[in-house]
Amino acid sequence: MDHNISSDIEQAIRLLQQGEVIAIPTETVYGLAANALNEEAINKIFLLKKRPQNNPLIVHTHSILAAREYVLHIPKEIELLMQTFCPGPITFLLPRKTNIPDAVTAKSDLVGIRIPRHALALDLLKRLSFPLAAPSANQYGYISPTRACDVNLAMQNEVALILDGGDCQVGIESTIVELNNGVLMIHRQGAITTEQIQQILHHTKVIVAEKNTNTTVTPGKSLQHYSPKTPFHLGDLNLLIPQYQHQTIGVISFGTSFMQQYQHAIQQEHILSTQHDPEEIAQKLYATLLHLDQQNVNVILCETLPNKGIGRAINDRLYRASYQHNKL
Ligand code: TXA
Ligand code: MG
Repeated sequence: MDHNISSDIEQAIRLLQQGEVIAIPTETVYGLAANALNEEAINKIFLLKKRPQNNPLIVHTHSILAAREYVLHIPKEIELLMQTFCPGPITFLLPRKTNIPDAVTAKSDLVGIRIPRHALALDLLKRLSFPLAAPSANQYGYISPTRACDVNLAMQNEVALILDGGDCQVGIESTIVELNNGVLMIHRQGAITTEQIQQILHHTKVIVAEKNTNTTVTPGKSLQHYSPKTPFHLGDLNLLIPQYQHQTIGVISFGTSFMQQYQHAIQQEHILSTQHDPEEIAQKLYATLLHLDQQNVNVILCETLPNKGIGRAINDRLYRASYQHNKL
């Protein structure tokens, strides 16, 4: 059943050179990758992912030098961030050169550039003569996969190869930033935190872009995203569990167990980090959500983190994931 999961980098190179789409590991989440310079290959990504054509793709390169081939210029603030955090879980929106096809950027003048930290992804990028466009390897709007087996589930054997690089170490998508009139805009929060960015750019104003109020396209900003199909609610588990105790509950706890107290109601409990470590929570979150969404539970209950560091990015994903279940 998992015949297309392998760590054969030679096969990955061959397929990509032929204009095919494959799934690749990165340190954040798995991506659906194709030659970013090949419009036909790009179109296959949109089809596989069922993604609207007006939602642009991130272009992955192996170095800052390689990235320069696709962008007109890099402002000094962005260059400083690149030197500090790359390779790593951060994407930069930069003015594109015309060698990047319209389909990649949805005709925008900006292209998202990311240099991933995952060893296998970097090795692959170094051995190719073109960059890779890659969105997260989920069906549009659903939860991003952080394990090769989860990609298979999402893509139902429709990709020729899932390059297996193990479990993603970061677990949530990259931070997306843009320098706009001297202000550093954070379009999507991620593992490179607002605090870390501000520390490097101490003379620059850093702001987190507002969430969209509708479902149009700017970066990862649609309010509903990453959503499980099972009703999903957030809050203080001590209050939530009693409220839903007549249903079959799946619980995602960040540190403490509620099983003893509510064992009649809780069908499955997943404790993401006994140390309550936000990074470990980020790493395990999506795989746990995906797993619970395939179980026979009527409702999934989960807590949130204090709004600081990577906790902001985790909360952001959780709010979007629960949006459709809570919007009324
Ligand atoms: O960690 C990540 O960034 C993963 C891995 C695979 O690298 N990729 C990822 O891609 O999360 P995706 O497509 O699922 O999310 C990228 C977001 C989208 O919301 C898209 O709208 C935005 O970035 N984006 C990409 N290029 C853009 C551009 N040129 N201008 C504005 N937004 C852009
Ligand atoms: Mg995505």
